[in-house]
Parts: sequence; structure tokens; C-alpha cells
Amino acid sequence: MQVYSEKQQIITAIAALRAQNQLIGLVPTMGALHQGHLALVERALENNDYVVVSIFVNPTQFDNSTDLEKYPRTLKKDVALLSMLSKDNIIAYAPTVDDVYEGNTVSEKFDFDGLEFEMEGRFRHGHFDGVGTIVKRLFEITTPQNAYFGEKDFQQLLIIKKLVEKHHIPVNIVGCPIYREKTGLAMSSRNTRLKPEYLEASPFIYNTLKTAKKLFGTKSAGKVSEWVEDQFSKQNLLELEYFIIADTETLKPVKRKSKKKAYRAFIAAYADDIRLIDNIALN
Ligand code: PAF
Repeated sequence: MQVYSEKQQIITAIAALRAQNQLIGLVPTMGALHQGHLALVERALENNDYVVVSIFVNPTQFDNSTDLEKYPRTLKKDVALLSMLSKDNIIAYAPTVDDVYEGNTVSEKFDFDGLEFEMEGRFRHGHFDGVGTIVKRLFEITTPQNAYFGEKDFQQLLIIKKLVEKHHIPVNIVGCPIYREKTGLAMSSRNTRLKPEYLEASPFIYNTLKTAKKLFGTKSAGKVSEWVEDQFSKQNLLELEYFIIADTETLKPVKRKSKKKAYRAFIAAYADDIRLIDNIALN
């Protein structure tokens, strides 16, 4: 499997493939690959001739230096996992910070029509400018026709769609379902850092979301939120940062339910110092 660490090399390789009318899919990742990433890559392999998997822990999207420092980096293992899916049709791009940022590791400023100020945007300052900056650069470098993102980061998915629309980037964004552990915990590279007692407690998040979905059938968003907050207060390992029921298009918290709209419930919670997020479609 070809692994590039310099953007000029991968730009040349992709230009040659595009000259032969090959379809390129992109799966952007921060590495520490798990089954959820591999499911995205498999989906991309079905619909493209070549799949570029970028592996890059992007510093500008972290507002917490400890989280950035502790983020797992397992490039050798990642490449071995990808090789098991395909040796010939996957291209890995694992650049250095300098290769991507050319000595100026700062974010561009974006206007995502307000999506950036909801949920994650309120708790992780500058996060979506960092995500927008790296994803836009990856699109420029790898010029994919299709790009794949998981729904675990649902807000990120909407923001990438907005980025593409506003900047007229010719790429089709494909959202893919959340991949879960058998326990229901949404897969995340950060899960490897969970201590056993927190790992054991973590299915509580998805179980709570599932019950919230049932309750939302008959109760108001406010009542469901009160119930969720109460459930979290009754256990002592997971600390709720937010529970929000939001409109799936605008991500604005729902005030009054409308049958014409689609809603999703979102949770962010701390398991010790590890921040976990999850969400569920409600209707
Ligand atoms: O979802 C992620 O892993 C990251 O935010 C992404 C899209 C790879 C950008 O760094």
C-alpha cells in the first residue's frame, strides 16, 4: 500500500489517476483507526476506484492541549489495518504538521451560517475553524469526487456540507451511520484511553439516548431533557456536559415540536478526562 507523507507526492500521484478518469474517494481521519473508520473505508471502496485515507492529528481543531498531546498515534498499526482491506486501491496520506500548515499552524475563519455556534461550538472554541481548515486543505490536496464522514460527529458532517456549498468545492459528501461497540458505545479513537470502570459505565450514554427517543414520542423536549439530566445526576462516573434535542437541519435546540421537522438528540459527557459524544435520530 502506498503511504505518502508529503503533499507534493500525493498531488502528483492523484493527478495521474485522475488523468485516467479514476474515481477518488477520501476518508479523512486522525488515525488510531477502529472498526468505524474501516467501515467508512469499505463503503468508499465500493463506490470509488481509489480511496485516500488521510491520517493526521490536526492541531488547530483542539482547544485542549492535553487532549492533543494524549491523542493516540498508531500509524504502523493503522497502515496494517488498511492493508488488510486493500493493498492496491487504498492510498494513505500521513503528513507532518509542517507539510500541511507550511510553518503557519493557524485556522482560517469560517462562517457556517450559525451551525458552528451550537453544541460543540459552545464548548470547544475554534474547533470548527480548525476542522474546516484541515478538511478544505485535504479536499484541495486530494481532489476527491466523494468524501466520507461518520454521523457520530453529526454537527461536523453538517458543517462540512456547508463548507462545500459555500466554497463551491466539487465533492459529494457522504454521511455514514454511527458504528458501535457491542455494548452500544459509539466507536471513537478516544475509547482506547478509557479506564475499565469508565468503559463499563459508558453504555449508559447510548441507553439513555434510546430511552430519550422513546420518551420524545409523548413528551416535550424540555421534559425529556429534564429526565436525561436526572439520570446522569443519579450515577457518578459520567459527567453530562450537554443534552440537546435539536432540529437536524439548523441544529437549533427545539422549543416546540413540529411534525414536519426532523430532530436528533445529542449528548456530550465526560468519562474521567475523556470527552465522549453520541447522538440519535428521534423521528
Ligand atoms: O472527525 C475527525 O476525525 C476529524 O475531525 C477530521 C474530519 C479527520 C478532521 O481532522
